[in-house]
Amino acid sequence: MDEHVTANDLETLDRAHVFHPSTHLAQFARGEAPSRIVTGGKGCTIVDRDGRKSLDAFAGLYCVNVGYGRQEIADAIYAQAKELAYFHAYAGHSNEQVIRLSSRIVDRVGLGMQRIYWGLSGSDANETNIKLVWYYNNVMGRPEKKKIISRQRGYHGSGIMTGSLTGLALFHNAFDLPRPPILHTSCPHYWRYGQEGESEADFSKRMAAELEELILAEGPETVAAFIGEPVMGTGGIIPPPEGYWQEIQVVLKKYDILLIADEVVTGFGRTGEYFGSHTYGIEPDLITIAKGVTSAYLPLSGVIVGEKVWQGLEKGTDDLGVIGHGWTYSAHPTCAAAANANLDIIDREDLTANARETGAYLLKSLQEAVGDHRLVGEVRGVGLMAAVEFVGDKETKAAPEPALKVGARISAALLEEGVIARAMPHSECLGFSPPLVITRDEVDQVVSATKRAIERVSESL
Ligand SMILES: Cc1ncc(COP(=O)(O)O)c(C=O)c1O
Repeated sequence: MDEHVTANDLETLDRAHVFHPSTHLAQFARGEAPSRIVTGGKGCTIVDRDGRKSLDAFAGLYCVNVGYGRQEIADAIYAQAKELAYFHAYAGHSNEQVIRLSSRIVDRVGLGMQRIYWGLSGSDANETNIKLVWYYNNVMGRPEKKKIISRQRGYHGSGIMTGSLTGLALFHNAFDLPRPPILHTSCPHYWRYGQEGESEADFSKRMAAELEELILAEGPETVAAFIGEPVMGTGGIIPPPEGYWQEIQVVLKKYDILLIADEVVTGFGRTGEYFGSHTYGIEPDLITIAKGVTSAYLPLSGVIVGEKVWQGLEKGTDDLGVIGHGWTYSAHPTCAAAANANLDIIDREDLTANARETGAYLLKSLQEAVGDHRLVGEVRGVGLMAAVEFVGDKETKAAPEPALKVGARISAALLEEGVIARAMPHSECLGFSPPLVITRDEVDQVVSATKRAIERVSESL
């Protein structure tokens, strides 16, 4: 930074020169939307340049699994950057960090999956997935099998094709998305979409039947893959209903459709198992990872490739030569060093178990504290992912009047209480996804602040 720039200028310069993602650009530029310049963090708490601290119950964007301020990750990054900050991985070049990282992750995944293609973001990893699925089907001699089915309210990134996979209108508006050949099937939120008298297991059967109807209507010979988050994240933190993944996998197998598990959020402990696929008995052909692999200390993502697709890729290069896919930063040694240090911490501190145990405590505490409130329709969650869904009418489950912006107001009131939770973009719901190091004391703070915030907003309505 220019030494003449004072702290007070920073906000002005930010509003003038930084194009912020997922932000109301006009309001931000005019100074009508809040600015916050974050300067540090330790454990579950971040601090800004005004010295204001917040307990971050969303772990950044569900990514800082080991918490903020871990010296050993910073040291690992420094050591690797001094030794070899970067070399590419094209044409068989490699580095020790990425070799160690790849082999330890495939060991933990199991399911016969052996290889990882490395990228930098969840979005680019899902772009890779789409390309691999298309390449695979071309090589296997069925070029018409190209459509990919995602779900309404699924989130898979905001690139051109990954934004198309995302099933949220906010990410499509005015961007000419979604694009073919992407299709969307039903969102499996039982509380919201279950019918009168329908059991959760029957709802899951209906979700699978609706998927099958879509496949048959399109022609199974044209449908290549299905992508889903084991637990829906940005669409509202929605754990799957009972039996959902079993029913869905039966349909996919029947029509020879590949399954992509997008574990960008659920990977590396968040659901209380190492992967969400383990929690729900999912056997994917491809797995997307990002976020928790480095706890966001540096950007890193990956596509874990199962044997069936891998065999197709090998055949493809025997037929066609070198695979025409690669990023400059694939298998980046410094990012891989951050990941190895991060995964060491997750193992040593058994953060997966903490996600399971403290997560169950978070869910129970939220249910007890706010479950009966007139504005609360549902409290749901698994591991260290939880959501409180707001209603305008508890009996009918009608959503609150959109103009009241209940979710956003509660999230803002919560921030005043010193806690960050996220007003989820689709529905009127508040999401929690804290660092996996969160303690019961911190959970108590989050829950009591949430209760006060809901009561304050409720009184003001
Ligand atoms: C499930 C899922 N997939 C993909 C992405 C996209 O990741 P990125 O923002 O790193 O591109 C996200 C981001 O939140 C996500 O939650």
